[in-house]
Formats: sequence, C-alpha cells, structure tokens
Amino acid sequence: MKEDFLPINGTDYIELYVGNAKQSAHFYKTAYGFQSLAYKGLETGSKDRVSYVLKQDKITLVLTTPLVEGGEINAHISKHGDGVKVIALWVDDATKSWEETTKRGAKSYQKPLVSEDSNGQVVTSGIYTYGETIHLFVERKDYKGVFLPGFQKWESHYNPKEVGLKFVDHMVGNVGWGEMNTWVEFYEKVMGFSQLVSFDDKDISTEYTALMSKVMSNGNGRIKFPINEPAEGRKKSQIEEYIDFYNGAGVQHIAVATDNIIETVHELKSRGVEFLYVPTTYYDDLLDRVGPIEEDLEPLKELGILIDRDDEGYLLQLFTKPVVDRPTMFFEIIQRKGAKSFGKGNFKALFEAIEREQERRGTL
Ligand code: FE2
Repeated sequence: MKEDFLPINGTDYIELYVGNAKQSAHFYKTAYGFQSLAYKGLETGSKDRVSYVLKQDKITLVLTTPLVEGGEINAHISKHGDGVKVIALWVDDATKSWEETTKRGAKSYQKPLVSEDSNGQVVTSGIYTYGETIHLFVERKDYKGVFLPGFQKWESHYNPKEVGLKFVDHMVGNVGWGEMNTWVEFYEKVMGFSQLVSFDDKDISTEYTALMSKVMSNGNGRIKFPINEPAEGRKKSQIEEYIDFYNGAGVQHIAVATDNIIETVHELKSRGVEFLYVPTTYYDDLLDRVGPIEEDLEPLKELGILIDRDDEGYLLQLFTKPVVDRPTMFFEIIQRKGAKSFGKGNFKALFEAIEREQERRGTL
C-alpha cells in the first residue's frame, strides 16, 4: 500500500459565512442542540468580524459574520447566501499538508501560519477546493485553549440540551455540469483520496430529474466527500437548482451521525426542524426490500425515517429541508448499522420528495 502523504485525523470544524451569526447560533443551539463553546468579536478585539463556535460531541460549527462593509466575507454572503466556507481538517502537520497538496496542484488559500496565545500554539494552512470552498489544515499540537487562539470561552445562560448528534459522517459537494471528474481527480491526485463508489444517472433518476455522484474517501476512511453533478433530465434537477442559487459549486449537505435516530429525529422535530417526507407507501414493502431490522417500523414510519441495506448491514437516514433561505444547504441525519454505503435504495423516493419541494418553489 502506498504511503498516505496527507494523513487526516478527522473533521476539525466547519465554518459557515452567514448574514447574522448571533441569530444563526441561536438556531443551531435551539433547534439542533449545539452547545456554546467559543466566541470572538468586538469584546475580544476582533474589529472586522464576529464568530460563534458551537459544539456537539465531535462536531464543531463556526458561524462568522463581518462587522464592516466590503471584503471577502460580505462578497461570499452576497454571492452564495449563507453557506459553508471552510471544511477544516485536523492534521498532525499543517505545513507538510500544505506543501504536499500545493506541489500536486492545489491552489493555496493560506500559507502555513502559526498563531498562539497563553494556551499554546496552532498551525493552520489552507487550499481551495470546489467553488470558493476551502480546506483548512489545522495542527493543534498541544493547544489547551477552548478553540483556537483569538477565541474566548463563550458562557451562556441558555443551554438547550444536545439531540444526540455525534460526528460528521460525510459532506457532499455539488459541482457544475461536466465538473465532477475534475474534482474527483483533485481529491485523488492532490489529496491522495480514493473513490469508494460511483452512481450514474441510471442509479439516481426519477421520471423528471437525474444526477451523478462519486464518493471520495481519504486513506483511513474518516473523511468522505461525495461529489454530485447534475445530469440531463426532463426537468431541472435539485443540483442545478442548488448551483443556480448558490451561484456555483459548494457544500450541499452535512451528514451527521447519531446512535439513536428515532430519538434524535423526534427531538429535532419537536424543536422545529423541518424534514423531507416520502409518501407512507414507501413503508408498504420496506421490510421485503431491506430485510429484518432491529427497530420497530411504526416510529420510523411516523418520523419518515428512510432505511437502506448493503452487503455489510443497513442504515437509517433522513434529510432536512434547506436550513438557509436559498434552496441550498441542508443536513442529513444518519445512523449506520454496519452499512458503509449512502442509501442508494432511497435515492428515488428522496429525489421525488425534493421535486415536490422544487415544484412549490417553481424551480423544477
Ligand atoms: Fe448524504
């Protein structure tokens, strides 16, 4: 086996550029059960931007809003709406990660940069991926601070409890017509990933719309990035709708894992999270399709949770409606019971559910 030139320990954090970080933070606490972790803003000496950091088990979200007019963050929000800017990857050596990827053709976003405070030192570096999205390599060494240098602990009197979200299972990128293989090659050549699976428009199509997808994974399998591209159909696919509203390629969904999807989805729903629904006929022949499962069918049916099986086990999953104003980014809640796949058996039912939403938006 060839040497992994880009060893990655896991997802470090996900940063979204948003129009109003304070209110977004409240949403992710209230609706999704994230906990207040860290803050930077005027009170900490950050004069041009404010960032709220939230955490739930191994998932860290950073929400950033500019405090002044002009500049890169405002331009990002104006062009894309609220969306993911940074997929930060936790590495042991951020300098080597930057060198290995840029020498293989990555466009640099940030040269290795040492930042420190009384809690220690962190090295970060960054490269561009699809669209204006970036991968930041984060080397924490023995950093003892709450998040990164420049941040203070965020104490809040308002702490709704967690909903059981554990870690980032995968993050999906939507790219434009004919671009999927370019980005598959980028992850192969520049980042040393390999392709796990591939779906073509015959796997992923309904009567009206189609898309293609390839799943890229790093050496130890902790990072999985499916890449979607639209395919020709009779009507406009959800990927095209995304590309239109995001004005280019970007992160489509963040899949977060739970150990108990029934409890997690029940809790999320009661807090106002909106999910996509498939018709109840989906459950009529479900057990014939997926075989025996440990869960009772009734609560799954009631919550609209989807089930799929591969040769290693099964998985349960459910998708939210977009969490921002434009029909762009959403979340997937996933519980794996052995299965390592992505719910191929649910694609059709799911895309028909999305088409019903597109119909309402007039974008099908
Ligand atoms: Fe997914």
